[in-house]
Amino acid sequence: MCGIVGYVGWRGAQEVLVNGLRRLEYRGYDSAGVAVVDGKGGLEVHRAAGPLDNLVAVLPEDGAVGSVSGSSAALRATTGMGHTRWATHGPPTDRNAHPHRDATGKVAVVHNGIIENFAALRAELEAEGVELASDTDTEVAAHLVARAFSADPDGGLTAAVRATVARLEGAFTLVFTHADRPDEIVAARRSSPLVVGVGQGEMFVASDVAAFIDHTRDAVELGQDQVVTLTADGAVVTDFHGETARTRPFHVDWDIAAAEKGGHDFFMLKEIEEQPASLADTLRGHLVDGRVVLDEQRLSDQELRDIDKVFVVACGTAYHAGLLAKYAIEHWCRIPVEVEVASEFRYRDPVLDRSTLVVAISQSGETADTLEAVRHAREQKARVLAICNTNGAQIPRESDAVLYTHAGPEVGVAATKTFTAQVIACYLVGLALAQTFGTKYADEVAREYAELESSADAVARVLEAVVEPTRALARDLAPSKAVLFLGRHVGFPVALEGALKLKELAYMHAEGFAAGELKHGPIALIEQDLPVVVVMPSPKGRAILHQKLLSNIREIQARGARTIVVAEEGDETVRPFAEHLIEVPAVSTLLQPLVASIPLQVFAAEVARARGYDVDKPRNLAKSVTVE
Ligand code: M6R
Repeated sequence: MCGIVGYVGWRGAQEVLVNGLRRLEYRGYDSAGVAVVDGKGGLEVHRAAGPLDNLVAVLPEDGAVGSVSGSSAALRATTGMGHTRWATHGPPTDRNAHPHRDATGKVAVVHNGIIENFAALRAELEAEGVELASDTDTEVAAHLVARAFSADPDGGLTAAVRATVARLEGAFTLVFTHADRPDEIVAARRSSPLVVGVGQGEMFVASDVAAFIDHTRDAVELGQDQVVTLTADGAVVTDFHGETARTRPFHVDWDIAAAEKGGHDFFMLKEIEEQPASLADTLRGHLVDGRVVLDEQRLSDQELRDIDKVFVVACGTAYHAGLLAKYAIEHWCRIPVEVEVASEFRYRDPVLDRSTLVVAISQSGETADTLEAVRHAREQKARVLAICNTNGAQIPRESDAVLYTHAGPEVGVAATKTFTAQVIACYLVGLALAQTFGTKYADEVAREYAELESSADAVARVLEAVVEPTRALARDLAPSKAVLFLGRHVGFPVALEGALKLKELAYMHAEGFAAGELKHGPIALIEQDLPVVVVMPSPKGRAILHQKLLSNIREIQARGARTIVVAEEGDETVRPFAEHLIEVPAVSTLLQPLVASIPLQVFAAEVARARGYDVDKPRNLAKSVTVE
């Protein structure tokens, strides 16, 4: 939620910031703003409600792009910061857009997170006669920094920021500029992510490396409760008390092309097509000398062997991947697995101890609900294993073991390639546990691993065969009011995921059901011409389930539904009951969700497109949900 970028260097700051914000728009697109500062013109702020283009339309534009000359500070300045907002406190208006300023207009701040004690701070400032210009929780930070800076000008902006963050509660990543300090920016991090980009004579700070990947792939990850002062020559990182802090430098292993649309109309469509590669990349290198290895493991084999229960916690799409983890882990390890949405987990006081493993799945690694579930689990002494797509994010940092999905950056708000990568990563975790528990021999693990490796080819075949027909089907069904999704066994999470994609992208009422539950209520929803998508199990491995689902299809067809059936190639028995048949390759049971979810992703994207919606930026949503 909310994207932040800051720059100090030699380029025109405005252009660097706007380009950075373009890559961060997935984090929020309710409003955007930039603040730039230079020695002559002081601090200049521009803000606009709505998408980034609205901001671009109000920015000064005399002078060549990238130049550092011109009549306004915005065009001369080589220091500044920008923000793209997902509104929490105050509606998405110009006045609530970041950056916010103090009363003198000398300090500007951008913020990601929530300052929980802002009401008390606001009341304190108002009692002192300060007039606040916005409804946000953020603005108080600008006034507090201005006050601290005036009280101790020799301490500079850094000391003023430290004094301010000491008073804040909640989650906050903040970046400040001061008109009297045109050559530096100062940022503070608690919970919400922040990375520093290290260039030649220029430095960046951002919520995500994507914001500065055009300029540098060398980055430094900031830890919890750290303050960084950036000048063109480098960064000084301390903790909130001013002590030198440890940081972790890293090199970004993807380049600018990964953050571009690559000829597609939407990022999501590109990301759907990247799935064979992201599956292969996620698996690569994890079978070493016949053993499945994780990326990071701070648990001994004995600690893992002591595990007698697994909880999987995650949100949204990651939760659906977690549902699939249960099938694999229980099947391979014969150990009970519970799967729970992270936002509910800690509030019901789950039974956790040293012998519990909590598997936290999060693409971003910063989802607040999942992070809090991880913290709760660790407080109760449970072991935590994270599956994450973002190197060094908060959830993996706070976990005992980590397996990274290597899906690359996912810009579309709807999770696609990260979902299938999470599923394959869950299966890897299942195999790692099975070998530790001794429920699978090395040769069995190797066979299963090879099976997982075949998923990339199977998904590539689906993409070749089904994308075009599914697009046509989507255009046909786009005017529908609602769509239901049915599945059984591993097809049930696929049905849930198909419905979620359609809801979030096409703003259509969509529900996923376990097909056996239909007769216990949802069948009342079936009416003439209602599209119902059915995810069929294989007629071979799962013959009994297949039979039962055939009966379910008959029941809904008899009540007038339009049946769209995703079934294994060669499954002739289903053909008479399918108004539209989407055939996917025959694969093992656990791989079926991977091949079956691809057409549902394409379907949702195309229905949304046919309805005229922005596929990458669905309304009201943001890619990273850093508030509970
Ligand atoms: O970053 P995370 O995997 O923790 O995000 C969890 C959900 O917010 C996310 O999967 C969301 O449901 C997707 N955008 C849906 O497509």
